[in-house]
Amino acid sequence: MLHAQQEQVIYDEADIPKFTLPDPLVAADGTKIDSAQAWNEIRRPELMELFEQEVYGKAPPAPEKIAFKVTESSDDALGGKARRRQVAIQLTDDPKGPVMNLLIYLPKTDQPVPTFMTLNFFGNASIENDPAIQLPQSWLRNSSDKGVDDHKATEKLRGASSSRWPVEMIVENGYGLATAYYGDIDPDFDDKFQNGIHPYFYKEGQKTPQPDQWGSIAAWAWGMSRGLDYLEEDKEVDGSKVIAMGHSRLGKTALWAGASDPRFAAVISNNSGCGGAALSRRRFGESVKRINTSFPHWFCDNFVKYNHNEDACPVDQHELIALIAPRPCLVCSAEEDRWADPHGEFLSAHYASPVYELLGVEGLTAEEMPKVDEPVLSRLGYVIRPGKHDVLVSDWQRYMQFADAHVMGKGK
Ligand code: GCU
Repeated sequence: MLHAQQEQVIYDEADIPKFTLPDPLVAADGTKIDSAQAWNEIRRPELMELFEQEVYGKAPPAPEKIAFKVTESSDDALGGKARRRQVAIQLTDDPKGPVMNLLIYLPKTDQPVPTFMTLNFFGNASIENDPAIQLPQSWLRNSSDKGVDDHKATEKLRGASSSRWPVEMIVENGYGLATAYYGDIDPDFDDKFQNGIHPYFYKEGQKTPQPDQWGSIAAWAWGMSRGLDYLEEDKEVDGSKVIAMGHSRLGKTALWAGASDPRFAAVISNNSGCGGAALSRRRFGESVKRINTSFPHWFCDNFVKYNHNEDACPVDQHELIALIAPRPCLVCSAEEDRWADPHGEFLSAHYASPVYELLGVEGLTAEEMPKVDEPVLSRLGYVIRPGKHDVLVSDWQRYMQFADAHVMGKGK
């Protein structure tokens, strides 16, 4: 850790080394990708494989059967304004295996609703002070603020993160919200993958993932897909309009979920930074070396090859966004969140844009980095707002404005 802290952090554009980005529209063998067909048949599968192999690690296939149990349900939640459902989703084919608890709030309507699918950091009970929400049972990071003691939830956890989750507002705007605790999938600490979902997929004798097999981000993204498996079955939700959203490490996760699972109708990443929307080759703020040192479990082991060696990586993060094309994608930065490199996040969207255009849809409509609070809400969108690394109510207003235009088709 000390060693990592001694690393020089680049916070000045002038200190960024010169680099050349891989071209999303040139295949590994040099073939120019000049049609939607060539993108879909050659370049997209090639990039998917490279991200799996070199960055996030390959995840196993979905369980054969979707198994879930609705554990709680109310049509009178949030003071009568919403419906609430709690669903235990079995993550493997083993009925005794791990379970992810999905909390869903829905507007009261007879129509299936578009829904945000997003993971949370401290358990479902932290998002809203609602006594009916089950407290998380999985390992939690200790926090006296959030009411986590000895890695277990206390009653104080209820609503402890509610400033990030304007549930009533979301529901009033006609959207559903589905959320699960990321630790139900894989607890967020480096234990060489002994707990969480990974061991359930080890071959006989295997003790840890191979260098090209899934790290924690890929596992969380895979868990988001299991949430979507359920949401597609749920008649109250419009399964064709599920938006993957996430903040920070879970913003990296939302991007990878959207790239690897084309059923997600759109993706919104908030302050996702290094390994998310920010270009790794810029090395601005958090670097590949730094993230692999502080969080060795997030990426696959092959990603370590690119510590201080970003230029050798066959992909960069603009190609992650390109993998989401032609679906709507909104990249959100915060002005004071320099660690996450807002300009690098903008440039990723910028350099992904030609793929959107090749596929016949609108890319990012701004050529230059927009000013703070001048959102660019094109189908591939970018916004930088004032303030810190966080999720604000005003962020959610913007997500819904974006979703209204590009998922609900209400026009901008
Ligand atoms: C750290 C980490 C980031 C990450 C963030 C978060 O700051 O360096 O990469 O996005 O935590 O998830 O809150």
